[in-house]
Amino acid sequence: MAKIIVANWKMNPQTSKEAEQILVSYLKLVKGGRGKVKSSEIVICPPFVYLNSFRKKLQTPNSKLQIKLGAQDVFWEEEGAFTGEVSVKMISDLGCSHVIIGHSERRRYLNETDEMINKKVPVALKAGLKIILCVGEHHRENIHEIPKVVEEQVAAALNGVQKSHVGKIIIAYEPVWAIGTGTPDTPEGAMMAAVLIRKTAMNILGLAAKNLPVLYGGSVSALNVEKFISHDGIDGVLIGGASLDPEEFAKIVLSANS
Ligand code: PGA
Repeated sequence: MAKIIVANWKMNPQTSKEAEQILVSYLKLVKGGRGKVKSSEIVICPPFVYLNSFRKKLQTPNSKLQIKLGAQDVFWEEEGAFTGEVSVKMISDLGCSHVIIGHSERRRYLNETDEMINKKVPVALKAGLKIILCVGEHHRENIHEIPKVVEEQVAAALNGVQKSHVGKIIIAYEPVWAIGTGTPDTPEGAMMAAVLIRKTAMNILGLAAKNLPVLYGGSVSALNVEKFISHDGIDGVLIGGASLDPEEFAKIVLSANS
């Protein structure tokens, strides 16, 4: 299966000019290795406000890179009086094929709960978007055991989801202690989590979830990406900080294709 590489730019950079510069230099760098960049699916998730200009840049007629666009969040209501929120139709209209749901920073700073996440999931799926559901524990006391909260987050988010939507679900295992700290999980830890996540998803969505893509996220860099993606059970990576550096991100993408 093609590896999935998701870039989560979070609330960066601060101007549209800088955002376009990062995108353009990144595109130039990977174009050099275009022949190689075909066995992975790349999804860039900039802040909402840059989506429109990114769509235009990514849709150049002879762009063979097929970079997809994703939003970092979405609201669960489809329209109406919800000040500051953004709907599934709005992001689809701006060219998004993917949306991140339940990132730990939203859970932490905006008090996003499993219930709220569970309301967003079916709305995004119904709109035809692919969801990148983020789950992960705050602490791991026993390194040989993935905390139960990971299973609980998956079960809560997918509760009630129609089995027919299984092909549109990607789950990113992101241990909170590894995000932005420079200390990633071990590939073995990420593998253990991936097994548990797929098992939990299968309980809800049936056998079809056996091949559900599970990504790893948390301090992934050009230096360590290979350790994760060389495992069959890890279907890709979700990258924060390192995705804002075009050279670093290009290296990650190229090594996922080597
Ligand atoms: P990081 O962030 O790569 O900077 O650790 C990952 C994420 O939060 O998605």
